[in-house]
Amino acid sequence: MHSALTEAKVVVPSIAQDQRLHRFMNAYWLRPENALWMALRSQALSDISWAHRSIDLSCGDGVFSFLHAGGQFEDDFDVFTSILPQNQRNDEKDDIFDHCDGRYKPVIVSPPQYGIDVGTDLKPNLLAKAGRLGLYEELEVHDNNQPLPFETHAFQTVYCNSIYWVENIDQFLAEMSRITAPDGQILLEVKMDSVLRYTLESHRERLGDRFLDIIGRGRAGTWPSMGDQAQWESRFAKAGLSITKATSFVTRTHAHIWDVGLRPIAPMLIELANSVTAQTRSRVKKQWVDLFCELCEPFFQADIDLLPGGDEPAEILYELKQTV
Ligand SMILES: C[S@@+](CC[C@H](N)C(=O)[O-])C[C@H]1O[C@@H](n2cnc3c(N)ncnc32)[C@H](O)[C@@H]1O
Repeated sequence: MHSALTEAKVVVPSIAQDQRLHRFMNAYWLRPENALWMALRSQALSDISWAHRSIDLSCGDGVFSFLHAGGQFEDDFDVFTSILPQNQRNDEKDDIFDHCDGRYKPVIVSPPQYGIDVGTDLKPNLLAKAGRLGLYEELEVHDNNQPLPFETHAFQTVYCNSIYWVENIDQFLAEMSRITAPDGQILLEVKMDSVLRYTLESHRERLGDRFLDIIGRGRAGTWPSMGDQAQWESRFAKAGLSITKATSFVTRTHAHIWDVGLRPIAPMLIELANSVTAQTRSRVKKQWVDLFCELCEPFFQADIDLLPGGDEPAEILYELKQTV
């Protein structure tokens, strides 16, 4: 199953614009702000082919890459169907997705249009989920703060959308450069430190610490390598990487929507959604997805910004190659 996908010729996945938002909304419905951000991420990558061999570093549960590759789930499947049970949580900042059990059954109605040779992540539970998608040939647990366990020049396509989660950033970039073939490409979707400004932080005095803690749920603490455009670009140069193209695709407006979003109430919404009958869940989910697609549709544009003046983007897709 996997090899047929990885042997297939290189394809650029074709997903209609309205279907893209709908598919991401369906998979991430209880976090519509994440669905919008991921659909924008996928849209930014839409002209790019994934030549083999390819690797998805920090692939997580693989759902993003599966949907981006044109895969389609049955409507009732989403990433909330199996999460860490209440009685196994230590505190409100636990990653509720770091869990995999028998309820996690992604029903695939269309397979992805290409396969990915290798997926890696720090969390074995997420890789167990990724292993149910028929997308990855191999999955390996790996901490990106350590050297990559792959041969020099092993990959034509190296992708990562979670680079700012890595502490040892210079080593990670140098390692990515090492495993990339001389004519290969590195695709990085990088959140900029401007997202830390596109928040309610400047109103802390009026809103209070607890308010901002509830809204944030410890997000920023998991991003040790945030930087601005100039910092990232100098890190790339230091790692021997040249920028072929840089595409901004998340604005201040997107980041502000995402800042508040449904993050604080998501655990309760998930519990509710998973407590009702399958028929009720399915019926309400359909109405919810249709409504949020309509609400997000005007924002499903890489450059929309409702705020006055201009400011830095909140995420950039960098296409990089080794400097000759
Ligand atoms: C925001 S998620 C993105 C996952 C996936 N790429 C996606 O688009 O859905 C960040 C991922 O980075 C992984 N991660 C965090 N720190 C890591 C590290 N030091 N090494 C490898 N993966 C890490 C997490 O386990 C998580 O799956």
